[in-house]
Amino acid sequence: KTNDFSVALRAHDLLQKFYHHFLVNTKEGKDALLYLEKRGFTDKEIERFQIGYAPNSSDLATRFFEKRGFNLYELVKSGLLSRRESDGKFYDRFRNRIMFPIWDHQGRTIGFGGRSLSDEEPKYLNSPDTKLFNKGKILYGLHLAKPAIRKKEQVVLFEGYIDVISAWRAGVENGVATLGTSLTEEQARIIRRNAETVVICYDSDHAGINAAYRAQSILTNVGCTVRIAKMPEGYDPDEYILAFGHESFQKNVIDQSMTLMAFKMDYLRKGKNLKNEGELIAYIEEVLKEISMLPGAIERDHYLRQLSEEFSISLDALKSEQYQIYRKLR
Ligand code: CTP
Ligand code: MN
Ligand code: MN
Ligand code: MN
Ligand code: MN
Repeated sequence: KTNDFSVALRAHDLLQKFYHHFLVNTKEGKDALLYLEKRGFTDKEIERFQIGYAPNSSDLATRFFEKRGFNLYELVKSGLLSRRESDGKFYDRFRNRIMFPIWDHQGRTIGFGGRSLSDEEPKYLNSPDTKLFNKGKILYGLHLAKPAIRKKEQVVLFEGYIDVISAWRAGVENGVATLGTSLTEEQARIIRRNAETVVICYDSDHAGINAAYRAQSILTNVGCTVRIAKMPEGYDPDEYILAFGHESFQKNVIDQSMTLMAFKMDYLRKGKNLKNEGELIAYIEEVLKEISMLPGAIERDHYLRQLSEEFSISLDALKSEQYQIYRKLR
């Protein structure tokens, strides 16, 4: 019902402002502010992304809404409060967490992500999916990034809000993120509607690289041109920016992102011992299959030469093998 919708929207808007106020104006928010400072966040980021703090209280938000005459059952359904089964008491869902508002694509707050201050589990607690909020349909930060996306004709895709915000601080303003889940086709289509080129900038760890591999395939299928940012192993964008600086992130990570083919060639090598002849041949077959799917003859030629040089295999042999694979694929 439209009415439920507008009540939930109003509640989110009020709570977002309430949490932001606690962070920037109160004693309770001091530690949270210090924590953000330590991570390199300045007032600019706190304002632009309307970051807040949920104090360590079990009924602060609950009382806030009660005083304003909200139906608390509705707020449980909206994911802002919880209710204890045993005695039916309402209590706050978010406690002692840095709060990141999550917006729909028009910029209305429809959920929250909360990061624990104390490394207590779970590290991130997001709003549950509700009538208003569906993780698979939302790209974090899209309404803020839109002008930069249009200008650059490019989207940079991150794992989470922290990375989007850090990248913005580093001057990369066309960043959006999925929210701790893998990219959906619907999100990929939204990206495609806004730009053709996407740079995937996920964490440079096992999970991140595998997620990037899945994401590239979804993005390619909806017609995006995909590039992959490369960082030293173990870094995520936020950590990279703190360690190597703003300029390096722009220059060495975003501008120097790999082509999709280069990424796949790296990816397919993982776990293989290319000194072993059988494994080498299997690897080359897999790469040739990828090369066969490239639409451009010049591009195909480029990677065939690269393979030929790296493994000292004659270009002729690679070309004829690739042609065989191509015929089989059609
Ligand atoms: N995330 C999420 N829900 C989860 C896990 C992660 O929404 N259950 C999102 C968060 O936005 C987070 C991003 O995914 O910023 C990346 O997650 P992860 O790499 O696990 O976080 P870290 O980079 O380790 O977090 P931090 O830097 O705050 O320690
Ligand atoms: Mn403010
Ligand atoms: Mn990660
Ligand atoms: Mn990370
Ligand atoms: Mn991180």
